[in-house]
Amino acid sequence: MKKVLLVYGTRYGSTAEISQKVGEILKEKDLNVELINLEEVKLKKLPPLEGFDGILIGSGIKISKMTKSVRKFISKFADELKNKQNTVGIFISCMMANNPEERPKARNDYIKKVLQENGVEVAMLEAFGGVLDLTDDSNLGGFSKKMMGKMAEEDPNLTPGGKNDGRDWELITNFAEEFCSLLSE
Ligand SMILES: Cc1cc2nc3c(=O)[nH]c(=O)nc-3n(C[C@H](O)[C@H](O)[C@H](O)COP(=O)(O)O)c2cc1C
Repeated sequence: MKKVLLVYGTRYGSTAEISQKVGEILKEKDLNVELINLEEVKLKKLPPLEGFDGILIGSGIKISKMTKSVRKFISKFADELKNKQNTVGIFISCMMANNPEERPKARNDYIKKVLQENGVEVAMLEAFGGVLDLTDDSNLGGFSKKMMGKMAEEDPNLTPGGKNDGRDWELITNFAEEFCSLLSE
């Protein structure tokens, strides 16, 4: 059974849900998946990357940046990622990618630039849409909620006071299945 390490960083939970879905699909395809939330596990406690056939990295985006945990993961393990580049994939969850036409820009601005800074290339990368929860139950902090609420009032594609979920589960499923095919090559 091939082994996949799926590490992710999330601030509000959207990337965690995407990662769980991707993990389930990989397991259905008979891959052994280790899912790790980098907000909870320190980098030095991670299992050695050499033990995995494939690596997936996921992150949410806030003010144009991946989580600190994911940025640190990429810079600390840049050499290992380079060695495995044919079986490394990366994805993000962000509002820019809610609009399919904006996805190339999201991939470029939020993913490719970080990879370039670290001299890393990967086999697959994708920008998925994000969640902007502006309901009373939202886990956004007060300041963020106010700021994003103002933004939503000016954006016809967003509902102020609503749970705006721009994730395309078909795109996410296709990404996961393509990653499985990559590993079986
Ligand atoms: C304070 C704040 C700032 C954000 N900044 C950006 C941004 O710069 N670009 C973008 O595309 N999405 C932005 N988003 C949307 C998030 O990327 C989206 O909510 C994503 O699903 C968060 O993923 P997470 O829940 O895994 O952290 C922002 C959201 C918040 C609350």
